[in-house]
Amino acid sequence: MAKKKKRKQTLADKADKYRLYQRSVQAADYEVEFFEEVFKETFSRQPIVLREDFCGTAAVCCEWVKSKKKRIAIGIDLDPEPLQWGRKHNLSKLSKKQLKRISLVQADVREPGETPADLIAGQNFSYFIFLTREELKRYFRAALDNLADEGILFLDAMGGSQTFEEERQEKRKVGPFRYIWEQKRFDPITHHARMHIHFQFKDGSRLNQAFTYDWRIWSLPEIQELLREAGFSQVEVYWEGTDEKTGEGDGKFKPCREAASDPSWICYIVAIKKKLT
Ligand SMILES: C[S@@+](CC[C@H](N)C(=O)[O-])C[C@H]1O[C@@H](n2cnc3c(N)ncnc32)[C@H](O)[C@@H]1O
Repeated sequence: MAKKKKRKQTLADKADKYRLYQRSVQAADYEVEFFEEVFKETFSRQPIVLREDFCGTAAVCCEWVKSKKKRIAIGIDLDPEPLQWGRKHNLSKLSKKQLKRISLVQADVREPGETPADLIAGQNFSYFIFLTREELKRYFRAALDNLADEGILFLDAMGGSQTFEEERQEKRKVGPFRYIWEQKRFDPITHHARMHIHFQFKDGSRLNQAFTYDWRIWSLPEIQELLREAGFSQVEVYWEGTDEKTGEGDGKFKPCREAASDPSWICYIVAIKKKLT
C-alpha cells in the first residue's frame, strides 16, 4: 500500500492569531501614555485604577500595572478564549507584585463592576458591536456607573468614505507577515458592516478570517450625543495631526471641534465624568 505523504506544515498552520493580532493592531504602551496624559491634564493627579472593557488578551491591563507601582487593572471580556491566552502569554510575563494588581473577569461590559475606575478604556472600536442607540447608550451608562466620581471613558472610532465601501482590503506589512483588513459588507440603510482580519505569510499561506466583526459604523456626532445623553459632563474628540512631509497622520491626537474631510480616519473620544457640585 502506498504510504500517505504527510503535508508539510505552512507558516499559517503554525501561526498564533492572538500574537499576530497584538503585533498588528495594538500599541498598549502608547495608549497608557495617552490615557495618563489626558487624565492628568483633566484632574491634575495620577490615575490609579484602569478598567479595560472588551479586554481580549488584556494587553493594556498588563502595560498599566507595569507603568507605575500602585496601579491596578481590571480586564473584562465575554470570551474565555482570549482571556486564557492573555493569562498564558501576557500575564505570565509580569512580576509577582504586578500580577497581584491585575484581575481578569469573564463578564459583559454592561454589568456593574466592584471597583470604581479612574479610567475605562474600550479600544479597537469594540463598542461598534452594539447595533442600536438603546444598546449603545446602555453601555455608556454602565461605563459611567463603573467610573469613580471623577473619571474618563476612552474610546476610539474610525470612519471616512472608505468605511462605506464593500469588498475593500487594506494590506500592511508587519515584520515577517502581512496584516489584511477587509471591509466585506456595508449596508447604507443600517450602517451594519462585516469586517475580517486575515494574515498572509512569506510561504504564500494565509490565515483567513482570523477575526470577524459584525458592527455598526457609528458616526462621531451619534457617539458624542449618546455619551452626553448617558450623563457624561464633557465629551471631546481627539483628532490626529498631519505629518507635513508625508501628508499622513502623525500619530499625535489633540482635542478638535472641527476637521477637514478625510477618506479614512481614526480618532479618540474622551468622555469625562465630573463630580456633581
Ligand atoms: C475587537 S476585540 C478587542 C480586543 C482588544 N481590546 C483590543 O483593543 O484590541 C473585541 C472584544 O470584545 C469582546 N466582547 C464583545 N462583546 C462584549 C461584551 N458585551 N462584553 C464583554 N466583552 C465583549 C470580544 O470577546 C472580543 O474579545
